[in-house]
Amino acid sequence: MSKLHVSNHPLVLHKLTLLRDVNTEPKKFRELIREISMLLAYEATADLALEEKSVTTPLAQTKGYALKDVIGLIPVLRAGLGMVEGFWEMMPAAEVWHIGLYRDHKTFEPIRYYSKLPVAPTVQVCVILDPMLATGGTAVEAVNMLKKWGAQKIKYVGLIGAPEGIKRLQDAHPDVDIYLAAVDDHLDEHAYIVPGLGDAGDRQFGTG
Ligand code: URA
Repeated sequence: MSKLHVSNHPLVLHKLTLLRDVNTEPKKFRELIREISMLLAYEATADLALEEKSVTTPLAQTKGYALKDVIGLIPVLRAGLGMVEGFWEMMPAAEVWHIGLYRDHKTFEPIRYYSKLPVAPTVQVCVILDPMLATGGTAVEAVNMLKKWGAQKIKYVGLIGAPEGIKRLQDAHPDVDIYLAAVDDHLDEHAYIVPGLGDAGDRQFGTG
């Protein structure tokens, strides 16, 4: 069974409350997603592999470290886009590979519409970025795509998860650890997370 990490960092909880607020406008909403993503990036990367590297300070040569693996950030279009900047600030050498999945309005099942992954993986650690883990259909499909690509190590980072989506992702991909800022109550009849924050794409891009 994969690990589920739910942040209890005070800054995350404070910012998530502002993010949920129906009166938070798109500009502020985008800033908050970026900031929360930065904090989740810190938590989601605590087990990254390091290699030793010598460094020369103004006073002496000493032992230091560098990240061993190339990291791939995989935002799921379009709501995942807002999470990229926060992660990228923490790991500017990461590659960003977009994948496009939307939910069918009736079945809520994911439909692929964009993927330009190169033939073979160019990264050792993939971090899927998608703010709302609702039914889990999109998350499972995103992992399927990355595994088919040949990805060895995959993590999922979102903002809010519903119990249904978390279970579906864990059942389908027990090797993928999940990092969230909160776990909410349930899904409504439209497969929206309650209490949630509404449509994360619309709220970022002002299209609601
Ligand atoms: N996608 C969203 O943007 N919000 C939800 O609550 C569920 C899916």
